[in-house]
Amino acid sequence: MKILFYDTKSYDKESFQNMVSQFPGLVIEYTKSDLDPRTAALAEGFDAVCAFVSSDVGTQTMDILHEKGIRLILMRCAGFNNVDLDTAQKYDMRVMRVPGYSPEAVAEHAMALALASNRRLYKAYNKVRENDFSLSGLMGFNFYQKTAGIIGTGKIGAAMCRICRGFGMKVLAYDVYENASLKDFVEYVSLEKLLSNSDVISLHCPLMDSTYHLINLDTIRQMKDGVILVNTSRGALVKTDDLIEGIRMHKFAGVGLDVYEEETNNVFEDRSDEILEHSTTARLLSFPNVMITSHQGFFTREALDAIASTTLQNAVDFEDGKESPNDVK
Ligand code: NAI
Repeated sequence: MKILFYDTKSYDKESFQNMVSQFPGLVIEYTKSDLDPRTAALAEGFDAVCAFVSSDVGTQTMDILHEKGIRLILMRCAGFNNVDLDTAQKYDMRVMRVPGYSPEAVAEHAMALALASNRRLYKAYNKVRENDFSLSGLMGFNFYQKTAGIIGTGKIGAAMCRICRGFGMKVLAYDVYENASLKDFVEYVSLEKLLSNSDVISLHCPLMDSTYHLINLDTIRQMKDGVILVNTSRGALVKTDDLIEGIRMHKFAGVGLDVYEEETNNVFEDRSDEILEHSTTARLLSFPNVMITSHQGFFTREALDAIASTTLQNAVDFEDGKESPNDVK
């Protein structure tokens, strides 16, 4: 089977090339172009395409892929909100994905953001580099015996609950479903109770209509003063303008964000003055207690290996005509 791999980064190529020899019969060709209606025709002569969260796998792309004989779309990510599943079904094209490739990768990054913003590690790093060994502005608080509030206790949220327990924290959680594996050390409470009792709040629910702008002025006001807020889930869980207002109200000891509403606007790739002037992300960055990383939660060796092996196994299952829990329908 010949697979065309879109939007190739050097680390993608490395992890897939290391793995592909274990899957005889699979051949991958790599292109830096991302998949969209302009690049879909490159798939001529291939059996499958491999795409990512940033790809445009909408109707137009699907039409062209079908015309070029593509029968399988391998999403090398968990999400598939960018795939037109109705059109895939119409053309009998199979769509497969990689759910939950490494929950610990994201949860560990969430805790790293919480710790770094609590102890101002980014500021400490810069101060010492400039020969300033004073401790002013660096005081944090112990996580030990404080309360963590975890919103969404699926795979990543559960990993975050285990990490917080390891720190000796009391763990409160809010979810529409309770995760039975956590019952020994997590107390499920209402969202209101979680917000008003937690010292560290970490978001791990998906972005849906019901969770859009879950963190807004009203929910921020319910939080304790001096709380640390971490979002490694999806930017639009947090209403950025309200977060900025909350920061101005001195609500937060620290804010750690791996995701932000403007992610898709390439705020940092295209640094034009106009974009930066109107950018809420740039405004967030102007606060000394905000730390932002560039959606790197998933980015560990283990996660990349898991993505590669599951994606390639998905291709083999397709060839063997096997049903798979990784099918997207
Ligand atoms: P999951 O599907 O295992 O868990 C999501 C949990 O959220 C479930 O327990 C679900 O019941 C809960 N939930 C649904 N609606 C809710 C609501 N209204 N309020 C509270 N909880 C609610 O998903 P997983 O694998 O844990 O991923 C969580 C999120 O992490 C993903 O949706 C994605 O946005 C994000 N993510 C971020 C990455 C990064 O690199 N920063 C990488 C991978 C995922």
